[in-house]
Amino acid sequence: MGIFDRLKGKKPQATGKNMPVPRHIAVIMDGNGRWAKKRGLPRKAGHKVGAETFRTIATYCKDIGVQYFTVYAFSTENWKRPQDEVDALMNLFRTYLREAAETMVARGVAVRVLGDLSVLPEDIRRQIDEVHALADTLGENAATASLCINYGGRDEIKNAVRALAKQVQDGTLKPEDITEDSISQNLYTAHMPDPDLIIRPSGEIRTSNFLLWQSAYSEYYFTDVLWPDFSTQDMDAAIADFNRRSRRFGGV
Ligand code: IPE
Ligand code: IPE
Ligand code: MG
Repeated sequence: MGIFDRLKGKKPQATGKNMPVPRHIAVIMDGNGRWAKKRGLPRKAGHKVGAETFRTIATYCKDIGVQYFTVYAFSTENWKRPQDEVDALMNLFRTYLREAAETMVARGVAVRVLGDLSVLPEDIRRQIDEVHALADTLGENAATASLCINYGGRDEIKNAVRALAKQVQDGTLKPEDITEDSISQNLYTAHMPDPDLIIRPSGEIRTSNFLLWQSAYSEYYFTDVLWPDFSTQDMDAAIADFNRRSRRFGGV
């Protein structure tokens, strides 16, 4: 911003680089299909550009000091889509995951994958193991970008309940010792704080089964921008909006 703007009393626009940032930001990466349709392209072209947006925004979040960045990439319900779209998404994970993780780890971002990975094709699971091994080289304190794949909030809670029920059955846990914390500790996100800010682009105003337990006190931010078009300026706008919220957590 130039000297004349400053003399006119204009405030410099806040960017992620000069304002406080949330510790954990999550994004429902939505709108890839509509982005492609608008351009007369196949839906998978939107997913490809959306994947690049993930890399750009995750790296930007690390650069401005966000410790955890978590995105919804494929839900437990997305298997319902036509087989060719599911195949295109699996192929995208196949060609993109390891390569993206390598470039992001080189920039100091540990990439991790969350969800029920047991039903993913074997070669993708192997790649995910490699991605996690790469993330481990950065140590525990590195900024983390988590991709939720075959993730469903209800499925995650069901799995946590099952794990706790098994401990009760084995006699290692008493029902009265089940706490909110022990449930949290059995979710995929056990190692991270709850998201402070959840962003949903593309104009839809719903959670679509994302981070149901963890979002109890998250701030939501909705925007009409389609995910492939989502820019660092859009992230700055979401963070600036978050910074204007008054979080009370039930207090006064
Ligand atoms: C989000 O984009 C990506 C996935 C759900 C895999 P969509 O594919 O849902 O895009 P729209 O909502 O149809 O535009
Ligand atoms: C949510 O988007 C899932 C992901 C972004 C991965 P959807 O496009 O699947 O959600 P709905 O169907 O509009 O609720
Ligand atoms: Mg969608």
